[in-house]
Amino acid sequence: MNTPVPTPLTARRGGPLQGRARVPGDKSISHRALILGAMTVGETTVSGLLEGEDVLHTAAAMRALGARLERGSDGVWRIHGVGVGGFATPAAALDFGNSGTGCRLAIGAVAGCPVTATFDGDASLRKRPMRRVLDPLEKIGARVIDAAEGGRLPLTLKGARDPIPITYESPVPSAQLKSALLLAGLAAPGETTVIEVEATRDHTERMLKHFGAKVTTRPHGEHGRRVTVVGQPELEPANVAVPADPSSAAFPLVAALIVPGSELILDEVMTNPLRTGLLSTLREMGASIEAVETRDDGGEEVADLRVRASALKGVEVPAERAPSMIDEYPILAVAAAFAEGTTRMRGLKELRVKESDRLAATADMLRVNGVSVEIEGDDLIVQGQGNKNGRAAGGGEVATHMDHRIAMAALVMGLASENAVRIHDSAFIATSFPGFTELMRGIGADLA
Ligand code: S3P
Repeated sequence: MNTPVPTPLTARRGGPLQGRARVPGDKSISHRALILGAMTVGETTVSGLLEGEDVLHTAAAMRALGARLERGSDGVWRIHGVGVGGFATPAAALDFGNSGTGCRLAIGAVAGCPVTATFDGDASLRKRPMRRVLDPLEKIGARVIDAAEGGRLPLTLKGARDPIPITYESPVPSAQLKSALLLAGLAAPGETTVIEVEATRDHTERMLKHFGAKVTTRPHGEHGRRVTVVGQPELEPANVAVPADPSSAAFPLVAALIVPGSELILDEVMTNPLRTGLLSTLREMGASIEAVETRDDGGEEVADLRVRASALKGVEVPAERAPSMIDEYPILAVAAAFAEGTTRMRGLKELRVKESDRLAATADMLRVNGVSVEIEGDDLIVQGQGNKNGRAAGGGEVATHMDHRIAMAALVMGLASENAVRIHDSAFIATSFPGFTELMRGIGADLA
């Protein structure tokens, strides 16, 4: 594999951010729509698909497993799937690039089929833990034929000929793990149940119902859920309209909060309550964020968000909120740097196994830009600069560690800091947010 030359990008302070924008489609929903479409006989259509590199890798994998996927000139994707248990053995290794979601969900989908497939990805994905999904999938009858140390990629999995329905209590709060097991359970006769101690995003459950599967969800303990899917359903092809990704909207949203005088409307942002931890936290910090229109769009809640620049104050973010904003900590840390007082974000263990060690990378990003920050156990503590004319010093060069969210968070920081912030590589932004630079320039950001 060639290592591409890094493409630096610099963000500078300028005038207010203004206007109206729609960020690209939700990444979680996009992966799931392609995978479920590929597991369904008949034509599924997907509009508003996120055409970022992560999702395009999943599309290629679904083709390699035997499904037909076409993108129409109208931007609508049409999928002709093979049915539950119907995947074919791919001719070559499946490459998931940078995407943990695409890879782990596809591992689950393949685990219930009598085929053998090799899963691989880039240097970041090769470092990420896969044992968490392999453990339950082995219980349903899949076998790992080969894997790198610790069950990491590249790995070869032989799916189960006769998958066994199981009940599994997840040791980590992970929607990817839950989804992998539910997708494998589709091929098993009877009920497959995942128990989670902390509720995680429920897009798989919602979409399975949308495709006609029987899924039930019950509360479990104080914050958890017990999710059951009935296997071997006749999935019905469906139309999926992908709403705008709240995890992408988070970047222009925080930018508008911290650049003085800004006012922005972000259209059709998905507001599934298991994804809105950032909005709750920012509101507690004093952010002006108004949901101007809300509706239910094909099984997911959606709202247009009006955001105004706001004086923020530091808060304590409880550990149990982490699953509902797990991808938003780097950008929350930027907001915290511009707040008055201290923000403590508790219980961020899972951040260590994202596209990078995001806990360390977020702390480094702030530190090189003059913000005082500490990691205590699994907590991140940011000293806000709100009492020093509201600005962080900036002036740093941020190492992005193949992590799109570190790259975008650092650039947002540069839009409001005293001095410019430069990232050493902007290439990975395209994994989740193609058109980020153009969208941000369109609302007035100085990125060059
Ligand atoms: C995702 C789940 C989360 C999140 C990721 C998308 C999903 O990962 O970080 O960006 O679509 O299920 P974990 O399940 O590992 O927490």
